[in-house]
Amino acid sequence: MAAPPPPAFDRARCAERLRREIALLSAPPYTADSDAVTRYAFTEPYWRTIDHVRGCLEEIGFEAWLDPVGNLIARNCAPGVRAVGLGSHCDSVRGGGRYDGILGVLTAIEVAREARAAGLDLPLQIVSWVEEEASGFGQMLLGSRIAAGEIDEAALRRDIRAIDDGRPFWEHAQQAGLTVEHVAHTAEVLNGMASWIELHIEQGRVLEDAGDELGIVTDVAGYVHADLWFTGQADHAGATPMDLRRDALVAAALTIAELERLARQAGSDAVGTVGELAVAPGVINAVPGEIRASLDVRATRSEAIDAILDGVRGVAERVGIEREINVRYQERQRLAPVALDGAVCAALERGAARAGARWRRMISGAAHDTMCIARSVPSAMVFIPCVGGISHSAAEDASPTDAALGVNVILAAVLDLTERTTGGGR
Ligand code: GLV
Ligand code: MN
Ligand code: MN
Repeated sequence: MAAPPPPAFDRARCAERLRREIALLSAPPYTADSDAVTRYAFTEPYWRTIDHVRGCLEEIGFEAWLDPVGNLIARNCAPGVRAVGLGSHCDSVRGGGRYDGILGVLTAIEVAREARAAGLDLPLQIVSWVEEEASGFGQMLLGSRIAAGEIDEAALRRDIRAIDDGRPFWEHAQQAGLTVEHVAHTAEVLNGMASWIELHIEQGRVLEDAGDELGIVTDVAGYVHADLWFTGQADHAGATPMDLRRDALVAAALTIAELERLARQAGSDAVGTVGELAVAPGVINAVPGEIRASLDVRATRSEAIDAILDGVRGVAERVGIEREINVRYQERQRLAPVALDGAVCAALERGAARAGARWRRMISGAAHDTMCIARSVPSAMVFIPCVGGISHSAAEDASPTDAALGVNVILAAVLDLTERTTGGGR
């Protein structure tokens, strides 16, 4: 069945609204820093942003609420209706950019606004997932992983703790007035969606290098987050001869260098990063006695992730034996690579063709909440280019005009998907 033509779309007007919103939300009080966006879960700038987004949604006729763990959900249709889901996240990394996450929420609102302006009665459910970035509680994709049933109540009460004050997620959620004791209901957000689309900046430079305006994502790389502890002996940096040291940092450094080699060897989309290094005692005149090195290993093939991790653990153990350093490995979380839904991707591809966009199919090396949603809801993602591929940095930049093209394409896809599920009987 042919979908109806999408409504007339004023790209410049949409881009201007997005530009204004991004400018507003990139400055205090919506970020804790003025030279970067720092807006991690449950902080004052975060709640201000959620309140702002909620206000925008209510203004265009949505009912909006926070679920038991703080996911913001908004619907423009009756509870039983299975809507097309749109959205992303409002939190940022510490010292992050203006577009990561928030652009997917703002463009979702634009899709709803444009649909309403065109007199289309499209059933939509917009979601801003909480704590996507791990900057508040050290756990990526927290809100969507809880919805997907990946995290139990005990972990929220005990194990998942705020980076800043060490208190459990549970206590923070209660303090924020959330009904976290009803955490079992968090999964209900998924029942309300017949499909899901997330727009995001690419965070790489495939689109920019190719001169394309949009990417339609077919696969998202899986990842493992873990920690490696190296325990040697803290000692005097002047009085301890080189051959009597048990320097934990040297053992960690040798392991990190090997991680780089293993990731390169594993293939083109495999990557390995040590982003956090905690050094104790961490003073200039002491041999480091204890190190915690975080591990972030990703690839679109699970076997590649496992090969890198096995290799890195093997090297750490070997270096540990040679240098009398105790080595311990602990996994924080693991998500398998995800293939996105062919039918939702096809609807986006038809939308992109209609809009005359220069687009390509591509994979995502970054993780997204869509990975968790895609397990039970047919899902896809749209990428727009970001300048130089830079992200998770204050230098992150993207074009509201490209984002507005994304709105146009997603609106056409939503119309298409709604026609297909309701047979045109909206
Ligand atoms: C999410 O931001 C990620 O690190 O992939
Ligand atoms: Mn991010
Ligand atoms: Mn993001």
